[in-house]
Amino acid sequence: MPQPTYVIDEMISAKSIAARVETLARDITLHFSGTDKLIVVGLLRGSFVFIADLVREIDLPVEVDFLEASSYGDGMESSREVRILKDLRGEIAGRDVLVVEDIVDTGFTLGHVVRLLQSREPKRLEVCALLDKPTRREVDIRATWTGFVIPDEFVVGYGIDFAQRNRNLPFIGKVRFT
Ligand code: IMP
Ligand code: MG
Repeated sequence: MPQPTYVIDEMISAKSIAARVETLARDITLHFSGTDKLIVVGLLRGSFVFIADLVREIDLPVEVDFLEASSYGDGMESSREVRILKDLRGEIAGRDVLVVEDIVDTGFTLGHVVRLLQSREPKRLEVCALLDKPTRREVDIRATWTGFVIPDEFVVGYGIDFAQRNRNLPFIGKVRFT
């Protein structure tokens, strides 16, 4: 099948992202102040750029771990069936945990991951999502902190892909088919 052609229109600039990340990190630092260690869990692969910037602005002792859940394949629609492809390396029982997600769309992915991690009985578990598309929600779940609320557009960049491409864009752009 030929690749569909598309262009990317900038939606959120690298500068706006950086400013928002700083504020989010300040709120997270305040919320968890006094913790002996915050376990920051990045959901692969979309959150890898965001988590890298975020942890460098968090002024707390931090441990970084990753979890990979899959619900999308290479398409643009959630399959509504979440599989854990890679689990955490560390234990989270009794610990302070921050889950970092790129986008909350239908909410199936985050809902599944939060339920799974809650079952391991962390002391506190909060979620920081870079983007939220509330109009698409099918599962009643909300991040504790959200970077930007966006309309129902398919976006790429700053770690986020379309069929594994465009993750390396420094800004967030929306995909427009030509
Ligand atoms: P949900 O389970 O429908 O909430 O899907 C969440 C996941 O779908 C996110 O973590 C992203 O990986 C992916 N996703 C949702 N919207 C977009 C988008 O606009 N561009 C790229 N990936 C997306
Ligand atoms: Mg994802």
